[in-house]
Amino acid sequence: MVTMNVLYTSTEGNTKSFVEKLKTVAESNGNVLLTKNIGDETEYEIETAPYIAVVPTYLTGGTGTGPDVTEIFTNALGDYIAYENNRQFLKGIVGGGNRNFNVQFDLTGRRYAEKFDVPLLFEFELRGSIFDAEKVYNLMKPLFGGES
Ligand SMILES: Cc1cc2nc3c(=O)[nH]c(=O)nc-3n(C[C@H](O)[C@H](O)[C@H](O)COP(=O)(O)O)c2cc1C
Repeated sequence: MVTMNVLYTSTEGNTKSFVEKLKTVAESNGNVLLTKNIGDETEYEIETAPYIAVVPTYLTGGTGTGPDVTEIFTNALGDYIAYENNRQFLKGIVGGGNRNFNVQFDLTGRRYAEKFDVPLLFEFELRGSIFDAEKVYNLMKPLFGGES
C-alpha cells in the first residue's frame, strides 16, 4: 500500500473535485491519498513527507505572461510551500485552468514548477476527467515509492 499526499487550493470547487477523483482512483487501486486544502486561513504546518501540489490559475494585471501578471487566490498555497523547509518535500505540480485563457492557461502551475524547481506533471481543465485523474495517479505513484 502506498500513501500519497496532495496539497491543493480551490476557490470555486473545480480543483477540489479533481482531487476527489484522484482519491477515488488511488483508493480503487488499494492505496491511500491524503489531501490538505490550503487557503488564506490555513495555519502553516511543517511538512515531513513527500507531497504534490495541485493549483488552479487566477491572475490579475493583464493578458500576457510577464511579471506584471500576478496570481490571486492561490498565494496561500505558494506561501505554504515556501514556508520553512516545506518545499523540500514537494515532488511535483499539477496545474488546473481553462484553455480559454490562451497563453495564461495554467500559468500559475507552470510558474510554481519553475519557482520550486519540480516537474509540472500534468495540466487539466476545470474539474478534469477521471481519465486525467488516472494519468496523474500513474505519474505521481512512483514519486511516493510505488511501482510505476
Ligand atoms: C477571475 C478568474 C480568472 C481566471 N484566470 C485564469 C487564467 O489566467 N488561466 C487559466 O488557465 N484559468 C483561469 N481561470 C480559470 C480557473 O483556473 C478554473 O476555473 C479553475 O478550474 C478554478 O479552480 P477552482 O474551482 O478549484 O478554484 C480563471 C477563472 C476566474 C473565475
